[in-house]
Amino acid sequence: MSFMKTKSGHQLLSRIATDDRHGENSHYFDGWKAYDRDPYHATNNPNGVIQMGLAENPLCYDLITEWILKNPKASICTSQGVDAFKNIANFQDYHGLPEFRNAVAKFMGKVRGDRVTFDPDRIVMSGGATGANEAITFCLADPGDAFLIPSPYYPAFDRDLGWRTGVQLIPVKCESSNNFKINKECLEAACENAQQKNIRVKGLVIANPSNPLGTALDRHTLKEIVTFINEKQIHLVCDEIFAATTFSSPAFVSLAEVVESMEGCNRNLVHIVCSLSKEMGLPGFRVGIVYSYNDAVVVCARRMSSFGLVSTQTQHLVAAMLSDDEFVNRFLAESTKRLAIRHKLFTEGVARAGISCFKSNTGLFVCMDLRHLLQDQTLEAELELWRLIINDVKINLSPGSSFHFSEPGWFRVCFANMDDETVGVALKRIQAFVHRGRENDETIKSKPWRKNLRLSFKSRRGEEIVMSPRLISPHSPILHSPLVNART
Ligand SMILES: Cc1ncc(COP(=O)(O)O)c(C=O)c1O
Repeated sequence: MSFMKTKSGHQLLSRIATDDRHGENSHYFDGWKAYDRDPYHATNNPNGVIQMGLAENPLCYDLITEWILKNPKASICTSQGVDAFKNIANFQDYHGLPEFRNAVAKFMGKVRGDRVTFDPDRIVMSGGATGANEAITFCLADPGDAFLIPSPYYPAFDRDLGWRTGVQLIPVKCESSNNFKINKECLEAACENAQQKNIRVKGLVIANPSNPLGTALDRHTLKEIVTFINEKQIHLVCDEIFAATTFSSPAFVSLAEVVESMEGCNRNLVHIVCSLSKEMGLPGFRVGIVYSYNDAVVVCARRMSSFGLVSTQTQHLVAAMLSDDEFVNRFLAESTKRLAIRHKLFTEGVARAGISCFKSNTGLFVCMDLRHLLQDQTLEAELELWRLIINDVKINLSPGSSFHFSEPGWFRVCFANMDDETVGVALKRIQAFVHRGRENDETIKSKPWRKNLRLSFKSRRGEEIVMSPRLISPHSPILHSPLVNART
């Protein structure tokens, strides 16, 4: 008897549990396995794989550590804070601690330059943005319904919005020739595509700022989008979890600002998702928020939040931290400063190797344009190059296809989840790789019969090292989930 079926072929597990919309067979997670087997360490494993597929933000952990040490009362596990233990341990109201909702609402306003305020009574908590995105989808759509989603987009949206809800995602194709702009034409085209297939479109989902592009939508585009969803009378879900990672101009514009400035906009259609995972670098705290302007959605989402509440211990600590204005101001200023420096270090470093990145000013990553290194402009060639980079350059980055780019050759690289020295090592490896490629090109020019070797700088074949999807982890006798430690 296998895990899934009895000897007589009966399905042991549910249809949802066994369908493949969990997304773990994406190439996005395959790179994780290569990293897991051979992780880089400056002294213990200097030739190992450097993890650049992880959008984590630990650059200001020193500030958070300092705050925790200075505020022992905020934690129930200290002699100064233990008095709160009984109340905190016993609190189970799914509205959340009032001080938590107040502090989160205030923080959301601060991240948006205090140009807009948020009502604490509309704050619904969830297990990270992952839980928040699923909860809002459950509230808005039925199995078989569809959400439009501009591509490229965050790979785990397929799982978060679609796996358990049965909702389909219909890509809105955005092209590099147009700087991946979302406009009325591409939105209409996606709608027509759904209509032709007889699929009911319930909403449009956008991530603003975008993961993977590292850019935010301008006010004009946001207005166009709000007008579009109003015309169609469909929902708009805006994932703003990277809002506070905007490190240079133009400043981030929240959907909240646009909605509040637009006359006649049906606010009942508008919902915002936030989390502390990227802005504060606290993905382990699992603090996610659904903020809806629709009263009925707030009520439904709150009921559903019973399945993914934030622990009261975390609420208690976060409430104290986010209520400390001086700390939050300093943290946000320092965080964007450090991100800007790191972004510059990385993009200038790869530029020296002749690699350009899609121009970005937000997020924890950039998209490198490696179209010129592809043997031909196909998905296969992109994956070939990606395997080569993992196996020979020993860097785990994410191929654009896993983000649903409509053209091959883009690669997302995260730059914040490591120290400066490791970035330096990664840059040296990339520069050496490109240099080897150039030498190889010269050889091809003088010996055209060697053309097929263009990407085979070494004899080793990528496939030998990067395992194909759904293979078994080196650490575990059973199927290992890369999502255990990968959520980005
Ligand atoms: C756009 C987007 N939404 C949601 C998530 C999930 O965030 P969380 O860790 O808060 O669940 C991510 C993680 O990378 C993301 O990039």
